[in-house]
Amino acid sequence: MKILVTGGLGFIGSHVVVELQQEGFEVVIIDNLSNTDISVLDGITAITDKKPVFEKLDLRDKVSVVSFFERNADITGVIHFAASKAVGESVKNPLLYYENNLNTLVYILQELQKKDSAKFIFSSSCTVYGQAHTMPITENAPVQKAMSPYGNTKQIGEEIIQDVCRTSSSLKAIALRYFNPIGAHDSFKIGELPLGVPQNLVPYITQTAMGIREHLSVFGGDYPTLDGTAIRDYIHVVDLAKAHVTALKKLINEAQGPIYDYFNIGTGKGSSVLEVINAFEKVSRQKLNYKMVERRAGDVVEAYADTAKANEFLGWKSIFTLEEALESAWKWEQKMRN
Ligand code: WQD
Repeated sequence: MKILVTGGLGFIGSHVVVELQQEGFEVVIIDNLSNTDISVLDGITAITDKKPVFEKLDLRDKVSVVSFFERNADITGVIHFAASKAVGESVKNPLLYYENNLNTLVYILQELQKKDSAKFIFSSSCTVYGQAHTMPITENAPVQKAMSPYGNTKQIGEEIIQDVCRTSSSLKAIALRYFNPIGAHDSFKIGELPLGVPQNLVPYITQTAMGIREHLSVFGGDYPTLDGTAIRDYIHVVDLAKAHVTALKKLINEAQGPIYDYFNIGTGKGSSVLEVINAFEKVSRQKLNYKMVERRAGDVVEAYADTAKANEFLGWKSIFTLEEALESAWKWEQKMRN
């Protein structure tokens, strides 16, 4: 079965391509290389021994999207990652985010709607919950007004898919709401490749430990949590990647399965920034240089998943611990620099 992975050379996309290939799917990747490097294709190939078909294409170009699907009529499933994801940038340039994240989604769905049968997995985010009122966060928690255009594109994206599924008997879709993906493949041939100064905690930690950054700024030590730092649910990217394959199989195998559904993909365990730092110091056997600074605008206090729905309906569960995920991120950082 042939599956298109858009953004398949990105951090999460590349790990999903590996899992798909290892499960016997034929994979075609589209990526515009705006936030990654073509060398990721070699990394994937080195792991799976099978080079996925790759096409450099910008999904904002509707004519090219239509032509791609005409040339690849046997694609029956799409896992859609290609999107912009920097919260701060989205505040400064909202239209870029609405164009990149929503126009492209519409073009792909238009093509899938033409098919007799199609499966679609959407890369969504726990950001749709904002600051949820109760922890852990279940899928019943209300979607709250987005705090950034980026977050809004994920909310609107889910709504678009749901609306299309309502009217289309041939399209089945699942949105996966990721918590905080970290880590790298255990072959260390693929991992996270942040361009410029990392915005996310774990690549910032590994770059600081590597001496690339002078110190880590811990954003906020006065949150109403046990140690005063904010709490997130950090999930190993390989666990997250496997959730996509499981969700895709669910759509393929269950004739009566969901037409549209959404799942939290996290570990179910919340960790504070200081807990992440401590765990990192343990696995890397070195002290991390960090300073407490002001809170970062737009950050929520805590967000961790109730994973019961994914456990029960998808039969998926995360396996890796925070320490294992941090250790893999650290090994990847070291390997990348040497
Ligand atoms: C985690 C914690 C920071 C950097 C973001 C997006 C979200 C998502 C995943 C998409 C927070 C703290 C961070 C640093 C710090 N989706 N921190 N110093 O903000 O939970 O989620 O990435 O791509 O939509 O908002 O992740 O890794 O940025 O932060 O203290 O230098 O680490 O304040 O508490 P976040 P993050």
